[in-house]
Amino acid sequence: MNSYRLGKFEGSIFVCGFMASGKSTLGEKIARKLEWDFLDLDQVIEEREGKSINQIFRENGEPYFRKKEWEYLLDLTRTFKGVVSLGGGALHDQKVVDHLKVSGLLVFVETPFEEIIERVRNNHERPILFNEGGEIKSKETLKEELKTLYSSREGLYKQAQISINTSIFTSIEEMAEKAIEKITRHV
Ligand code: S3P
Repeated sequence: MNSYRLGKFEGSIFVCGFMASGKSTLGEKIARKLEWDFLDLDQVIEEREGKSINQIFRENGEPYFRKKEWEYLLDLTRTFKGVVSLGGGALHDQKVVDHLKVSGLLVFVETPFEEIIERVRNNHERPILFNEGGEIKSKETLKEELKTLYSSREGLYKQAQISINTSIFTSIEEMAEKAIEKITRHV
């Protein structure tokens, strides 16, 4: 393992993947193990906007959220060095992928789709769970929407330099070790 080179690496590690794939948990674990700083982009947005993600979607709409998400991410690539876990839609465009790959390393967390659906249904913090009337969508509707969304984003996630398939690990500890091993080999 070339930890000397990792110590000299000047970029950040950006953790991407679909919603509820476990990006924040893995990103935080990697940061702790490397003794690097950690930030969660959704949390940065909530703090700077003074509102929850749900509130931003409701009160300002998704285009406003995406604009802020990109602005704050750009700002972090200039001012922060560490591990950053992104929101599932942060790679909304090829320009974001290109920018992150020159600002550091992109790590894709790949989690089985069925597991993602269950996690999204069991957590009421994501705007996609609700319809326009504020009611929880049916499992079938949610599944269809998530499938379409995943297909539209998959090509961007897959451009990450490093992929971690979560289904082959039994613990987050093991997953973070593997990610660090791959990161170290890559830098
Ligand atoms: C979103 C994912 C969320 C959050 C917002 C939009 C998306 O982040 O940024 O609700 O469009 O996929 P997580 O990936 O952490 O759920």
